[in-house]
Amino acid sequence: MIEKCLVLTYLAYATIVNLASGLNNGLALTPPMGWLTWQRFRCQTDCARYPDDCISERLIQVMADRMAADGYRDVGYEYITIDDCWPALNRDSNGRLQPDPKRFSSGMKNLSDYVHSKGLKMGIYEDFGIKTCAGYPGSEFYMQLDAQTFADWGIDLLKFDGCNSNPDDAKFGYPAMAFYLNKTGRPILYFNEWPLDDKLHGRKSNYAAVQQYSNAWRNFDDVNDDWDSVKSIINYYANNDQNFLSFAGPGAWNDPDMLVIGNYGLSPDQERTQMAMWSIFAAPLIMSVDLRTIRPSSKALLQNKRLIAVNQDPMGIAGRVVYKDQNIQVWTRPILPKGSVAVVLVNLGSGGSPAQVTLPLNTIGLTYPMGYRFTETFDGGNLGQYKPADTFTCFVNPTGVFMFTANLL
Ligand SMILES: *[C@@H]1O[C@H](CO)[C@@H](O)[C@H](O)[C@H]1NC(C)=O
Ligand SMILES: *[C@@H]1O[C@H](CO)[C@@H](O)[C@H](O)[C@H]1NC(C)=O
Repeated sequence: MIEKCLVLTYLAYATIVNLASGLNNGLALTPPMGWLTWQRFRCQTDCARYPDDCISERLIQVMADRMAADGYRDVGYEYITIDDCWPALNRDSNGRLQPDPKRFSSGMKNLSDYVHSKGLKMGIYEDFGIKTCAGYPGSEFYMQLDAQTFADWGIDLLKFDGCNSNPDDAKFGYPAMAFYLNKTGRPILYFNEWPLDDKLHGRKSNYAAVQQYSNAWRNFDDVNDDWDSVKSIINYYANNDQNFLSFAGPGAWNDPDMLVIGNYGLSPDQERTQMAMWSIFAAPLIMSVDLRTIRPSSKALLQNKRLIAVNQDPMGIAGRVVYKDQNIQVWTRPILPKGSVAVVLVNLGSGGSPAQVTLPLNTIGLTYPMGYRFTETFDGGNLGQYKPADTFTCFVNPTGVFMFTANLL
């Protein structure tokens, strides 16, 4: 009964929100960049045994320090977000969420003040079901209060999940939170898992609605720290089910999940592949790595300005696959200055030697009669000038990429 009333309330709000065009919160005009606890630190709550790795204010402060001091903030990584496992197991006497009192003893407002003092923004996680995925209090029946609580704490980003909810409610629950966030008057970037929830329940997504009510949305499985996971995401994006890539644009992005660069599972080539593909997808660049101990090569890759510039291109047009065979895919993305194109050749195969790829340029859309100047993206090297009738040949390492930008001559 309560459930039914709630759903009707959602419906009423959803209709109201429908009158507006898009989320219209002025945020995420280019793909959001930042750091998130989940992939690397998961739900470690045992601070007695793992004081350096548990989900706590100390972890967030230390990572904020590293983001500011080690150059990440200066190349665009801005949001530092606490995923699941931050709340106390019970709400306070007024029904408000509270952080775990031991692990966040100074309180969330204090922590967000600290994050802001470093020139960064603060994100948090919740779930529109009864409980979060890890079993902490969810927002069901409390959405308005929770949105206000986050605004009062100075939160700048909400990652909103759908565990422990009725799948029929997704189309009401996700827009309802967008509505309540808006009502707080504080611009709060809204990440959610709406199309992924649809997929998990065997449903098609209404991407037009998702785009209208979200700044970024997960649409495929959680990333794991291994090549098979990264490869499965690349293939899902290549298949572009329901043409979801066409819904990306300023303020609204497909989220293929976190960058796992710098952790345990990817080779140097595979790390380059993830960074190149996430740039061509126009995906949020959300690191999840221990910034205290990251390898210098992974840090340099995450901070590569030419890759970040492709990812952050202001037109916000997601790349598309323009050639595909069993192992090789060629992706192109239009970027500024007008007429320029970013190109990624990815070799998803793991056969022992680099694959030789020969591209007739007019078959991948490089048709400007005067020709192009090609620049390798990772190191900025000059690759020369090409006309549409020319072919371009390169070698692509197993599970690796070759990436360049083509600028009009
Ligand atoms: C709330 O939505 C309105 C209408 O779309 C928009 O003009 C306003 O900027 C939004 N406010 C916030 C804080 O997101
Ligand atoms: C809040 O933060 C400041 C500095 O970041 C600190 O000195 C202060 O003790 C904190 N307040 C509480 C209540 O812990």
